[in-house]
Amino acid sequence: MDPVRSVKGMNDVLPAEIAAWHLVEDRFRATVERYGYREIRCPVVEPTNLFVRSIGEATDIVEKEMYTFVDKGEQSLTLRPEGTASIVRAYVQHAGWSDAPVARWYYLGPMYRRERPQKGRYRQFYQLGVEVFGDPGPLVDAEMIDMAVELVRGLGIERVAVAVNSLGSADTRARYRDALVAMLQPHRAALCPDCQRRLDQNPLRILDCKVPGCREIAAGAPVILDHLGEEDRAHWEGLRRALDTLGTPYEVAPRLVRGLDYYRRTLFEILELGGELGAQNTLLGGGRYDGLVAELGGPPTPSIGFAAGLERIVLSLPAATVPNDAPTVLVASTGPVTQEAALTAARTLRRAGISVDQDLRGGSLKSQLRRADKVGARFALIVGDEELGRGAAVLRDLAKQTQREVALADAAASVRAALEGER
Ligand code: HAM
Repeated sequence: MDPVRSVKGMNDVLPAEIAAWHLVEDRFRATVERYGYREIRCPVVEPTNLFVRSIGEATDIVEKEMYTFVDKGEQSLTLRPEGTASIVRAYVQHAGWSDAPVARWYYLGPMYRRERPQKGRYRQFYQLGVEVFGDPGPLVDAEMIDMAVELVRGLGIERVAVAVNSLGSADTRARYRDALVAMLQPHRAALCPDCQRRLDQNPLRILDCKVPGCREIAAGAPVILDHLGEEDRAHWEGLRRALDTLGTPYEVAPRLVRGLDYYRRTLFEILELGGELGAQNTLLGGGRYDGLVAELGGPPTPSIGFAAGLERIVLSLPAATVPNDAPTVLVASTGPVTQEAALTAARTLRRAGISVDQDLRGGSLKSQLRRADKVGARFALIVGDEELGRGAAVLRDLAKQTQREVALADAAASVRAALEGER
């Protein structure tokens, strides 16, 4: 019978890969918690109209990429394609503003988009995200961008570009939209069929199109920064001043629009340069979405956030940053007589905080030591008949190829001393 395989674009993360994942998750939590964020966990499945209303009907995500199904209760449900919509829904549902005027929330978990899979792009992928509710910025915008840079650089990913833009408020966007349509209209016939439709429904999305002909036309499009109203301009300049004060590196990217409709004002992305990711090199992206909380039934609440792709960050990690998660010691026994003593010795080491692997099936000492090699253990503690009679065992340093007898009662201290000696 053919074995069942995972769904295309949905991957297993195997134990050999998990150290890098843990590193990124742990650093993310530690970093954002230092900035006062607290975790929220939302369901993976939401009512479909949550995403239609927030991400926007005429976006690639809603038009083409959602996993939507009707459940047995005849309700249309969707596997979340991103986190922000759910977090905003939860903020409104639980009146997140009642605890404090400003809420800082973070989340991590799987998201689902039916995109064409390739390196760095999957149908199930993990996001690490943050959202701040109740602060109009621009200082919090700068702090957030700076935090994102700290996170990425702290992981040893040094070659990055930080792209920043402003989309302005609803007024600015309406004015810009008119200017954009006026410029694009004469080129309508040369646009791809999708963009011809976008021209009527959501012209900003044309700036995102990857079709070469559309890109060429869009290159001549007006720039939204030239259309900012007075307050939008003050916000934008305030953001740039704060980034300069912090010394955060960034570039103004006047054509950055991003693929979700809820954005207003600040937009940003961090891109990895020259690495393995190729076309999918956006490590993280975010922006301000001041209208969304009200749109979903809450009070007017300025809000901003970003999400990073966990797989993309893992793919960009320099090998040296990934910690070694091999067990420190493999405890081996020489035969049936010493097997139970070895079981106890392993527990003693574990109680002392040392990670231990052991093949409890026993087997030859040779095969147990082969396993030590395979799992990358640093030491083997060999519990042999003769030594056991003296309450001792042999501690072999597998890296240095040396060994000595140690009292079983002192085994943990001996391992520690050997490791300390190297620091
Ligand atoms: P997004 O740009 O759609 O924004 O996704 C954020 C990040 O998720 C991307 O930069 C990328 O690293 C990762 N990502 C997206 N799609 C895939 C995929 N198919 N495979 C692998 N990684 C992917 C958002 O989702 C917004 N909710 C971000 C945000 C939060 N804006 C405000 N708050």
